[in-house]
Amino acid sequence: MSEEQSRAQASRDWYKKMAFYQIWVRSFMDGNGDGIGDLYGVYDKLDYIKSLGVDGIWFSPIYPSPNADFGYDISDYRNIHPDYGDLAQFQKVLHRAHELGLKVIMDLVVNHTSDEHFWFQESRKGKDNPYSDYYIWRDKPNNWDSILEGKAWEYDAQRGQYYLHLFAKKQPDLNMDNPRVREEVKGILRFWLDMGVDGFREDVINFISKKEGLPDGLPFLPVINGLPYYKDGPHIHEYMAEFRSVCKEYNCFQLGEGPLTTVRSALRYLTGPEKSLDMMFSFDHMMADCIYTEYLHRPFSLVKLKKAFTKWQNALNGKAWNALYLENHDHPRVISRYGSERYWRESGTMLAASYLFQQGTPFLYQGQEIGMTNIRLHSIDQYMDVSSHTNFHRYHLKESLEKRMERIHHSSRDSSRTPMQWDDTEHAGFTTGEPWFVVNPNYTRINVAAEERDPESILQFYRKCLALRKKSKALLWGSYREFFPEDRSVYMYERAYEGVWYLIICSFAPFTVRVRVPREYAGRRGKLVLCNYSKEEREKQRGIRRVFAGTLDSGDNTKAEHGWFLPYEARVYRF
Ligand code: NOJ
Repeated sequence: MSEEQSRAQASRDWYKKMAFYQIWVRSFMDGNGDGIGDLYGVYDKLDYIKSLGVDGIWFSPIYPSPNADFGYDISDYRNIHPDYGDLAQFQKVLHRAHELGLKVIMDLVVNHTSDEHFWFQESRKGKDNPYSDYYIWRDKPNNWDSILEGKAWEYDAQRGQYYLHLFAKKQPDLNMDNPRVREEVKGILRFWLDMGVDGFREDVINFISKKEGLPDGLPFLPVINGLPYYKDGPHIHEYMAEFRSVCKEYNCFQLGEGPLTTVRSALRYLTGPEKSLDMMFSFDHMMADCIYTEYLHRPFSLVKLKKAFTKWQNALNGKAWNALYLENHDHPRVISRYGSERYWRESGTMLAASYLFQQGTPFLYQGQEIGMTNIRLHSIDQYMDVSSHTNFHRYHLKESLEKRMERIHHSSRDSSRTPMQWDDTEHAGFTTGEPWFVVNPNYTRINVAAEERDPESILQFYRKCLALRKKSKALLWGSYREFFPEDRSVYMYERAYEGVWYLIICSFAPFTVRVRVPREYAGRRGKLVLCNYSKEEREKQRGIRRVFAGTLDSGDNTKAEHGWFLPYEARVYRF
């Protein structure tokens, strides 16, 4: 590669060094006192976001929407939901974010629209309508289930036909085979790129091309029985190439959401002549305590989690780039899943170290950085998300109410959608009005203000991790290697680059565990650069147990040797 080419490559790959913060605006910060988070609130919190050490923001949809799926049902792609402000306020946020050096990416949701979108309103009028083929209409439905709400087909009396909706009833699927629909998508891309946004997170983008004839799905596979006919469909790469060509003109960044994607199919989007995405959100690591959705819950398995991490790290190394995340608006809070609410601070910080130092671009979801946890509501009526209701009614009618509610506590997406906990004043400082959704009662303990004051807080630990990642070439670009993959308590991985090694050791055990040092490291001198227990806490344990050598503060080089890790302890060594 010539110098010029590598410079061009580096400028195209600006996103690799970054870390992103995801905003689900409705619950982030209310700036006008109506109880709903908005762009006025976001504007006021931009300095806070910047202070975390992130470099960009991903906005979950902020467009007009009847909120059947909280923004993922869009009724106007070129405007801002009046609850959140208007285009002028968005531009103000965008401008200020850019001043602070923060990139801004939008959510592109084009597998479906809202049924209240003008196109659908026209399409349902009849077969002669100019928008008739914007959606997927049939006289007879196939057997597909929808992912969010019942069967995937809904009868529309006005048109006298069924329309396909892979998600909720109010989210009809667009017919991407229609070239006019693809032109519309390109127009939407241009609209936001011309305004100055830096890229897109593309919702369920691997579902947009459906197999001709829409064959019946696999009857034994509930919820996703049609998946083989809509995932990575026949024309997906042609359509993606069209969108890519627009994005290339703007050097913008494209991140695809790839539900249930495999490494093999992801690589087709991420590499080679067909490359149409810069990164993809994979899901394997989100299934360490469930089977493809948190709803089908099973006990957490660290070995499964590590397998998923390592599979993606190895497969993409040198070929593509990982999008790293542990939380977003679709999953319950990670401390409540893979950590421990009892060891809240310890497990929250350890989880940060478990993923932020992998190879890839990290994403943090609002509230993750302060260790927000799942909400427990008493009645299903208090839950807001369509999938909480669907799941509650779906399979378990024979189970007791308590059991079904327990499943909802484990699985509901609402747990990640409670208002952000800013301080310990009324409504967690989220609003001066009545909050649109329940504030988690633990806000008096878990909130930004308290964690700003505490040097050992989860919030401060996220800052330390992000700062360390940013200044270390090995953590940014280094190779990845996992040690002891079968160990059921400890996740240990190495990042190595140009003669510098980092060893990241994370205990997932709620008790003290003995940690082995890999053969390659035995006797080598390393420096402890990060730990989630303070020196005092660690020293308290000295004498009771021999602690793995090295203290953060001494700055000494210490020999790597076998030792004990406290509950959910995480350490990062540099060699
Ligand atoms: C993925 C989004 O993240 C989720 O919130 C939404 O329900 C579905 N796609 C449908 O848009």
